[in-house]
Amino acid sequence: MMNQVMLAENVYLVGKNDDRKVPFHRLVLEKGTTYNAYLLKTEKPTVIDTVDMEFGREFVEHLSKMVELKDIQYIVINHTEPDHSGGLALLSRRAPEATIVCTEPAVNELKEMYNLHSRNFLVVKDGDTLDIGGKTLKFKETPYLHTQETMITYCVEDKILFPCDIFSTHVANHEVFADQAGFDITDDFIGYYQAIIHPHRRYVKTLIDALEDLDVQMIAPSHGFILREDIEKYVDIYESMSVDCPAGKKAVIVYTTWRNSTKKIAENLKKVLEESNIEVSLFNADKSDKAEIIESIKHADAVFVGSSTKYADMIGRLEDVLREMTKMNLEGKIGAAFGSYGWSGEAIEVIQDYLTQTNMDVQSTSQVIKTTGMTDVEFPVRVRFAPKGEQLRKVEHSAAYVADLLLSAV
Ligand code: FEO
Repeated sequence: MMNQVMLAENVYLVGKNDDRKVPFHRLVLEKGTTYNAYLLKTEKPTVIDTVDMEFGREFVEHLSKMVELKDIQYIVINHTEPDHSGGLALLSRRAPEATIVCTEPAVNELKEMYNLHSRNFLVVKDGDTLDIGGKTLKFKETPYLHTQETMITYCVEDKILFPCDIFSTHVANHEVFADQAGFDITDDFIGYYQAIIHPHRRYVKTLIDALEDLDVQMIAPSHGFILREDIEKYVDIYESMSVDCPAGKKAVIVYTTWRNSTKKIAENLKKVLEESNIEVSLFNADKSDKAEIIESIKHADAVFVGSSTKYADMIGRLEDVLREMTKMNLEGKIGAAFGSYGWSGEAIEVIQDYLTQTNMDVQSTSQVIKTTGMTDVEFPVRVRFAPKGEQLRKVEHSAAYVADLLLSAV
């Protein structure tokens, strides 16, 4: 069943109610979900987000009864995941004049996903506005909530926020507004936050800051209930649940370095961890007492181990530490390998092998993708030559990821 509800003058919810038990992000959505899209019937008709690709045809047919598709001027894509952009391929064909509005990182994704290489795109940046003929849209970038390319859209005249996944609930609700649900939706709202947003809570502050200069009277997300009462309460839930709380977490970084590039990685890991108030002990294994390193590891919550690669192997006395670690009970600690290299970086993989012989929770890219969908965090942390630019950013993302794991641990 397609929804069609007027939220404000010429603003319509046109989404799909999916009341199956929906498999999603390795969860089963027991209460189903909705894919909320929005039609703004202004002088330059605009669609904000679409629906899951399974329902794209139904969505476009439904939309065609509400507006001349060829008159649509803009299709705003807040987030490229196919449960929201899935109707874009068909809608673009039926609305050939429409410009697709999205962030810069979204452009290539949409082109590749839906073969839109010859299509007009309007790339918007943080704070940009768009006149859609009688209404004004304002855009705010919200990177990593929950994927890199995401943004939120705000209708200035109607004070409605369209944040796509953010502030959603996974409920196949037949009452559109939360205040008419007939039950308190808070548990569903928090459950959604925990499942989808919490792994990215480091970025919630960007969202909260973005909301500060917006007078939001209604939140129209892309899953579940529309919020028009107690807006502040729902925003507060995001803000309070994203705050780092446990104090006293400790990390050890132990490394050996050939030409100081691995040392620089270690120092950057330390910097990012310390920004999250994690106490860090940094050891060059060639210059530190092994007993002291081992003692620190015993008391650490996370252990990073790194080496430069020289002649396809680790360097210095690092292996002595690793051998000792395989004899220790390191249960409950997070482990991660890192290093700089010039050709293949074998040392990093050897360190990873040692770490996986322990009973630590050893981080891997595969695990990160499976648990969070993040593709810009990599473990082991491999840096070719000196860490700078994009490679340095990768190091910092990985440190931030471990910091978040530590700070969310009870
Ligand atoms: Fe509802 Fe990230 O998709």
